[in-house]
Amino acid sequence: MAQRFAGKRVLVTGGASGIGQATAELFAAEGATVAIGDIDGAGAKAMAERLGGVAFAYDARDPAAAAKLVSDVESALGGIDILLNIAGIMTWGRIEETDPAAWQRTLDINLSGPFYLTQAALEPLKASKGNIVNVASAGGIHPVYGTSAYGISKAGVIALTKSTSLEWARHGIRVNAIAPGGVATPMHEKSTAGGGVDPAIFTEAAGRNMPKLTDREACTPAEIAAAIAYLASDDARYATGTVLILDGGQTTG
Ligand SMILES: NC(=O)c1ccc[n+]([C@@H]2O[C@H](COP(=O)([O-])OP(=O)(O)OC[C@H]3O[C@@H](n4cnc5c(N)ncnc54)[C@H](O)[C@@H]3O)[C@@H](O)[C@H]2O)c1
Repeated sequence: MAQRFAGKRVLVTGGASGIGQATAELFAAEGATVAIGDIDGAGAKAMAERLGGVAFAYDARDPAAAAKLVSDVESALGGIDILLNIAGIMTWGRIEETDPAAWQRTLDINLSGPFYLTQAALEPLKASKGNIVNVASAGGIHPVYGTSAYGISKAGVIALTKSTSLEWARHGIRVNAIAPGGVATPMHEKSTAGGGVDPAIFTEAAGRNMPKLTDREACTPAEIAAAIAYLASDDARYATGTVLILDGGQTTG
């Protein structure tokens, strides 16, 4: 296996599950030392022990937790070369059904989380001339019926990516995003199983613009991890402000 990340210190949020887990595994296999920040502290610890990295319980909603995570990772690893904002939640519900608490929680975790961690990581990334990869979603580009809060939060992640790339090019920091369609993870399974929402929403969504979650195969977390690794590697040294879409064509129609 190539060793594109030998000697790199990589902070991965959401590394206890799904895409974050597959990404932590790939970076570790390619030589990185991985730090995992996740609200599931036990899951993060188990992963980090398996990969020879470090883990910290962290809640993406809390700006103070973002600052503490960065300082804990700096103390443990001596710096940060790559920040991967992967933690997130899915929220189903038509606009009129989305209560303020669900709206706020979705924005807090999916959008404010990466914003706070980006702010907190400026100095270490400046020092390493590092880079950031954010995980947005195809739903942030082309709305998926019945997931407005989620899609809006992910559209915000795309705007965050572009804004940060614009402002931090002067520090030599690249900032990119990927926009996956359906990825076979616990989030996806819960979602397609109903996720506690009115099952009619799936039928309606399938009849509109969401073939992916109903009658087409999802991709694997490892395929998304490979795209994240490309953007974070020197192979992509000319890429900043890029949003790489991997959605099986979901956003083309
Ligand atoms: N699975 C898909 O189909 C899909 C498609 C497009 C984008 N995404 C995005 O990919 C990312 C990873 O999703 P996944 O499918 O691997 O989901 P997942 O549910 O398997 O993993 C999400 C991880 O985020 C962590 N997390 C949740 N809330 C948190 C919080 N408040 N603070 C810190 N960590 C928290 C969870 O503990 C978990 O480890 C998310 O941002 C998601 O929106 C997923």
